[in-house]
Amino acid sequence: MLKEAIYIWLDGNIVPWHEAKVHVMTHSLHYGTAVFEGIRAYSDRRDLCVFRLHDHVRRMYRSAKIYGFPLRYPEDEVKKAVVEILRANGIREDAYIRPISFLGHGTIGLVYTGIEPHLAVIAFQYGKYFNKEGVSVTISSWRRLCDESAPPMAKASGHYINSVAAKMDALRGGYDEAIMLDHRGMVSEGSGENVFMVREGAIVTPPLSSCILEGVTRDTVMILAREEGFMVEVRDIARAELYTADEVFFAGTAAEITPVLSVDGRIVGDGKPGPVTGHIKGIYEKIVRGEDERHPEWRTSVYEEGGC
Ligand SMILES: Cc1ncc(COP(=O)(O)O)c(C=O)c1O
Repeated sequence: MLKEAIYIWLDGNIVPWHEAKVHVMTHSLHYGTAVFEGIRAYSDRRDLCVFRLHDHVRRMYRSAKIYGFPLRYPEDEVKKAVVEILRANGIREDAYIRPISFLGHGTIGLVYTGIEPHLAVIAFQYGKYFNKEGVSVTISSWRRLCDESAPPMAKASGHYINSVAAKMDALRGGYDEAIMLDHRGMVSEGSGENVFMVREGAIVTPPLSSCILEGVTRDTVMILAREEGFMVEVRDIARAELYTADEVFFAGTAAEITPVLSVDGRIVGDGKPGPVTGHIKGIYEKIVRGEDERHPEWRTSVYEEGGC
């Protein structure tokens, strides 16, 4: 279960965790009209470093733009609120941060004109999402929603009904996670992570046209992998390629870098985390804490005590 913090940032106020409430007529509750982010902060012993804060907040604004949702604050205020709520809670351990911009109450209709937008920023201590060395996945019978109905590039709350359906069915089937195919039957993404495979010496991931969220971790992996001299390809992936890949791994803020050890019962590689995945995972884990000093622009210091 979630480890509750003391406070939540709500519309510019720091309020006690249990008092951060919304009305049951909240438009976003009925119609999924909220946009949100999932961000991590990592302890580096001296400080707490928020990873790619700027990129996450920018994506939240892009998500809102896709649907034309109004936002209450400019981007800089959200970034400040993230640092503020981590400090207010005195969080110094690894943490997860959830900014969510939602539409308030005042109508039963779909039209939200005149309805006030709100912003909450929730932060709490958080460990691993998948608490195991590697995961088993199944190809979901649910297809990933796509641009013709609901563009996955928008991290909108309503879209997550698709992810929840895939995830819950995967768990019911005895798997750890689902990978969804897109409307064409090509590999899209996990319920909350992007997919990579290692095949014929290249690190391969599906393009945005495969109905994926434009993951910040996906971007991080591609940049680091190229810097490390790997060949990175962004191209369509057929389902059968996953069954025969040398390595498969997930990349996401929550999942971080997680090896996939089987797909629909077919063992990936030799059933253990592969060397390329291990290499990328190792660098990623150092970069986020500033133990590898490359890309300082990706780390925002919370306590400004010389870390990150
Ligand atoms: C559907 C989906 N795909 C991919 C990702 C990975 O994105 P990121 O690396 O920005 O966390 C997430 C998590 O936010 C997600 O929910």
